[in-house]
Amino acid sequence: MAVERTFVMIKPGGVERGLVGEVVRRFEARGYTIKAAKFLKVPTALAKEHYAEHKARPFFGELIEGITAGPVAAFVFEGESVVKVARTMIGATNPVDAAPGTIRGDLATEMGENVVHGSDSIKSAKREIKLWFGGKGEVVK
Ligand code: RTP
Ligand code: MG
Repeated sequence: MAVERTFVMIKPGGVERGLVGEVVRRFEARGYTIKAAKFLKVPTALAKEHYAEHKARPFFGELIEGITAGPVAAFVFEGESVVKVARTMIGATNPVDAAPGTIRGDLATEMGENVVHGSDSIKSAKREIKLWFGGKGEVVK
């Protein structure tokens, strides 16, 4: 058990649907704190770097199109075991399989419109925080 930081992003579809507050509310209500935040239209190069692990997958083009389609809201949340708990709170990648009570299970039905991204490991969290907010995976308080 440890205090960690993770990267959470409300995707363009979630921003368009007005779900930024709902997603942030859930993390804050759970006890996590915002350490960094920004609102931006994601440049294609940043999108490709963010999802680099998927670059050989057939859905990569669609994935990059989706994430660059409009502004996103990006956050660093901090708290106890936040990397794992955030993934649990977000739910399964395909919203059809996501349990009720999770963000995707409550707010989405389509794989390409799954509202939110969360880092999948401590290593990914460090990489993504650095990519989106600079520094060495740490954020200046
Ligand atoms: P994310 O990175 O967006 O938080 O989602 P995730 O970890 O739950 O899932 P991941 O495997 O990293 O996939 C990234 C995004 O790619 C789309 N996807 N499509 N058609 C497909 O088989 C497929 N698989 C993944 C989803 O939009 C997913 O969020
Ligand atoms: Mg992922």
